[in-house]
Amino acid sequence: MGIFYDKTIGTFFLESKDVTYAFRVTRFGFLEHLYFGKRVAREDLSHVEALIGRGQENVLPDSEKRIHSLNQYLNECPTYGRSDNRESMLAVCDDRYSRISELKYVSHKILPAKPAIDGMPSSRGGKTLAVTLKDALNGSVVTLFYTAYDDVPVITRRMEIENKGKKPLVITRAYSACLDLCDDDWQALSLYGAWARERFIDRTPLHHGIWEIDSKRCSSSGQLNPFAALVRPHTTEENGEAIGVNLVYSGDFTVKAQVDQDETTRLLVGINDYDFEWTLGKNEKFSTPEAVFVYSADGLGGMSRAFHDFYRNYLINDRFVYAARPIVINNWEATYFNFDNEKLCAFIDSAKGTGINTFVLDDGWFGKRNNDKAGLGDWFINTDKLEGGLTTVINHAHESGLKFGLWFEPEMINVDSDLYREHPDWIVALPDLKPCAGRDQQILDLTRKEVREYVIKVVSDILKNNAIDYVKWDMNRTMTENFSQALGEKNKAMHHRYILGLYEICEALVNGFPHIFFEGCASGGCRFDPAMLYYFPQIWTSDDTDAYMRTLIQYGTSLCYPLSAMSCHVAACPNHQTGRNTPFASRADIAHLGATGYELDLTKFTEEELEEVKAQVNKYNEMSDLVLKGDLYRLASPFEGNYFAEQLVSKDGKFSRITVMRNLNLPNGIAFRVYPKGLDEKADYYVSSLGRALKGATIAGAGLVVNFDRGDFVTTTIDLTRK
Ligand code: GLA
Repeated sequence: MGIFYDKTIGTFFLESKDVTYAFRVTRFGFLEHLYFGKRVAREDLSHVEALIGRGQENVLPDSEKRIHSLNQYLNECPTYGRSDNRESMLAVCDDRYSRISELKYVSHKILPAKPAIDGMPSSRGGKTLAVTLKDALNGSVVTLFYTAYDDVPVITRRMEIENKGKKPLVITRAYSACLDLCDDDWQALSLYGAWARERFIDRTPLHHGIWEIDSKRCSSSGQLNPFAALVRPHTTEENGEAIGVNLVYSGDFTVKAQVDQDETTRLLVGINDYDFEWTLGKNEKFSTPEAVFVYSADGLGGMSRAFHDFYRNYLINDRFVYAARPIVINNWEATYFNFDNEKLCAFIDSAKGTGINTFVLDDGWFGKRNNDKAGLGDWFINTDKLEGGLTTVINHAHESGLKFGLWFEPEMINVDSDLYREHPDWIVALPDLKPCAGRDQQILDLTRKEVREYVIKVVSDILKNNAIDYVKWDMNRTMTENFSQALGEKNKAMHHRYILGLYEICEALVNGFPHIFFEGCASGGCRFDPAMLYYFPQIWTSDDTDAYMRTLIQYGTSLCYPLSAMSCHVAACPNHQTGRNTPFASRADIAHLGATGYELDLTKFTEEELEEVKAQVNKYNEMSDLVLKGDLYRLASPFEGNYFAEQLVSKDGKFSRITVMRNLNLPNGIAFRVYPKGLDEKADYYVSSLGRALKGATIAGAGLVVNFDRGDFVTTTIDLTRK
């Protein structure tokens, strides 16, 4: 395993767990992709080339027999204007206004450790291949970085462009990676949605031409996630090939799959070039974000488990990733903006003894924030509401054995705020055009240094002067009038510059306060991406806390994000988003498939109901290690029928819990069976629903009938414990 270069055949082999990624330098000096799939031998793979002489193809100048057209190669880094008419990965314009490019191999290095990306989050890793290419026409030097991993079937890729010429260059497209596949028998799977219904699953056959998902909102967005998978038509949850790709980026992205005349497929991923133009002065560098590729021969489940392991082991902050997550009580749906010290202390008291261990004070504690029309930007404690500041509540929480968390929305500003009155030009807007508002708020122009410094200072002051253990970082609108009043010409890549500004603030605050646990949020889960996960080990998955809706949202999210990344709360009924009633136990069982918590008013609970909360927290504690470290098997999709079923199995195979929800009860119903996975076939497992033990092979083969109580949206859990 590792990274190998065979000089005799000019081929690079990247070997991650069970997979090979191979490409070579052609005799013309271009990089030709050869293979990405199940592990193969390190031998000459040039036979995969299917160059066929074609009457109408434009061939390279020194081609023999009219066969060498880049249109027919699988290319590792396709550029513009040199016989490859498909989508390019890079477009650079020189001072002649030419974007024609000829990137040729110069050298390569195998670096002992993976270099971080300047100004952008990326995963950790060991040995990294850096291949340098040069464009003699415009002076650009391109480095492609590849990292392989022994313990996961993952390859990461990114690109760096440096201007080694004398004149400025204008980059109009710089994607992170291109993966050419030698056939088109693929379907594209992606995650789409909207506020309160994030990350539903779409699966569609590719067609000749381009399939694409993207964002232009200056946010990775709840509409489309920067994740896609190419899967075979016959690929199922546990069988068949799947190639997943996810971009470690929180801004405008694109993922495209192009099927061409030769029925090959080109998969491209990177920053969206819709609103992107970056001028590179002499000796300046531009780095793309990182793309994570997973290969699975074990269906979507295998792909998801690989992403989960990868993000847990190589991306998420290792101070927190495997530590027990706070079990939160959040006041948002219980009080909205209407609270004072007395109310909050009573709220904290109500959680005592339940096992809940963290109180999070949500929106409304600062500025003149009595509704969502005012106050954002004024990160000063509202002492009219909270007499004496946050101290009373924080002390009360700590004395009651609860940690204290606080809500911020650092990127935003209300026009009705002191900050806006002082700095009206700090918002993202064109001065002579009244900007659109989202939730009555505007976006702070994070491309400006003084704005970033202000945000870092005011948030730091609160974090320094108060004993805060946890921060919920929210972001509640996407961008419209894409204009910074300070950027001038640089507005051409305004969204990317905003995202770089955001990362700078995240770095300062997350690293500046290493003891604080940060949770991400964006109107629920509308910015749920690996770059955010790098800073925030968990993200509020959705404002939709309805148990049925959560089965869909959490199932879709789990395609590439681990359960521990999903913040999941039990909320009151009728549900505030859907008006639906679901059983209290079901809400808890579904919220247990993530970093669990509560978002309701426990002061209104009877002693008996509080006992129920305590029992739920205990039940969660039995499985919290499964959520943090276990393997996920999705046994039944809520997108396909009346049932949702997920199984978690500990890495050592000793304990597994299956959670099933039946949506609608049918009278005289038909038995529902699950076929558990990931068990040791020869071992005996005590099956909680049967009250006796069975062999792992029997459980997996014959399955288990799931019994439900009467009613709709009822859950059942089954524990399998190895004897
Ligand atoms: C967003 C979040 C909610 C809550 C509110 C507060 O909608 O997703 O959880 O924090 O903002 O305004």
